[in-house]
Amino acid sequence: MKAMVVTKYGSPDVLQLKDIPKPSPKDNEVLVKIYAVSVNYGDLVARNFGNISAAEFNMPSIFLLPAKMEFGFRKPKKQILGSEFAGDIEAIGKDVTRFKVGDPVFGYRGSSMGANTEYLCVSEDGMMAIKPVNMSYEEAASVPYGTLTALNLLRKVDIQPGQKVLINGASGAIGSAAVQLAKHYGAEVTGVCSTPRVAFVKALGADKVIDYTKADFTKNGETYDVIFDILGRSSFASCKNSLTQNGHYLLASFKMPQLFQMLWTSRIGSKKVICALSMEKLDDLMSIKELVETGKIKTVIDRCYPLEQTAEAHRYVEAGHKKAKVIITVAQGNK
Ligand SMILES: NC(=O)c1ccc[n+]([C@@H]2O[C@H](COP(=O)([O-])OP(=O)(O)OC[C@H]3O[C@@H](n4cnc5c(N)ncnc54)[C@H](OP(=O)(O)O)[C@@H]3O)[C@@H](O)[C@H]2O)c1
Repeated sequence: MKAMVVTKYGSPDVLQLKDIPKPSPKDNEVLVKIYAVSVNYGDLVARNFGNISAAEFNMPSIFLLPAKMEFGFRKPKKQILGSEFAGDIEAIGKDVTRFKVGDPVFGYRGSSMGANTEYLCVSEDGMMAIKPVNMSYEEAASVPYGTLTALNLLRKVDIQPGQKVLINGASGAIGSAAVQLAKHYGAEVTGVCSTPRVAFVKALGADKVIDYTKADFTKNGETYDVIFDILGRSSFASCKNSLTQNGHYLLASFKMPQLFQMLWTSRIGSKKVICALSMEKLDDLMSIKELVETGKIKTVIDRCYPLEQTAEAHRYVEAGHKKAKVIITVAQGNK
């Protein structure tokens, strides 16, 4: 079978199309015939992880050594990238009861990755569910990562109907899901993004959109119950006056100083800093499927690239041009 393989760290040129043996499912696994895989932040990081310094690492430095051990110091241990996928079940192991041959599925591999390929074996207990009926394979492959992460992190601040929520980084994978989830919880949502993505964020349902190239949300005199900063480009100090009395400053990306701020504000003051890691569960994916099928979560595909052009897709995403989701399509028959 064909797979996009990475044997050394570097630019998108390290992605090479190769023939590798087709896997066979173990007793508790299913074999998924892949039709679509997304290109996410994690793919770009994993492709070049050996060259990422502690300063560039988006997490507290204490996580860098375990991450390098997981991904490989000098060359990638994970040679096939791709964490969000959609496809059909082609075969099942003898102990599998949750799925049957022919089921359309979507799923998330997290840091295990491995979906930039024609076939993938997944444990039947893995993060995988029947594909939402109202989404194509391409659409379904663009949903799990951002929505699972946003769902997990927003739970930490327990949004109430009528609260004002600001999402900084609203056009990205996590941010676009956060906008829709916060609307679903009944919040008044402000999305912050750059000029080319204003229309996209508006279309997701944001009540207000702030173009950060033209206005600074920390200086507009508004206050918010929750400020969710995806990339951590703002700071608690600059956002403090934009938080309501008991407001929460929620971070998806954080380092040691923000962890200390979380500890400090948990004891002193009414405005809290929350740094959290998403710990998604299978039930979360089932909830997401339901949200998609009831029209609460939608997705927009910017571009699709065939598997052979995965390097092009990485270049497009890395250049910061993507307006919504970028998908790798795996041509398999006529699906
Ligand atoms: N806590 C967790 O469990 C967890 C899990 C996964 C990932 N993460 C973190 O999440 C981050 C990746 O998020 P993602 O996958 O959503 O990334 P993404 O899809 O690449 O989106 C990031 C968005 O940020 C926007 N942006 C860039 N500069 C900005 C600025 N100065 N102000 C406001 N927005 C800006 C970009 O769009 P514009 O051009 O429109 O600004 C882009 O759409 C990483 O830092 C990663 O470490 C955390």
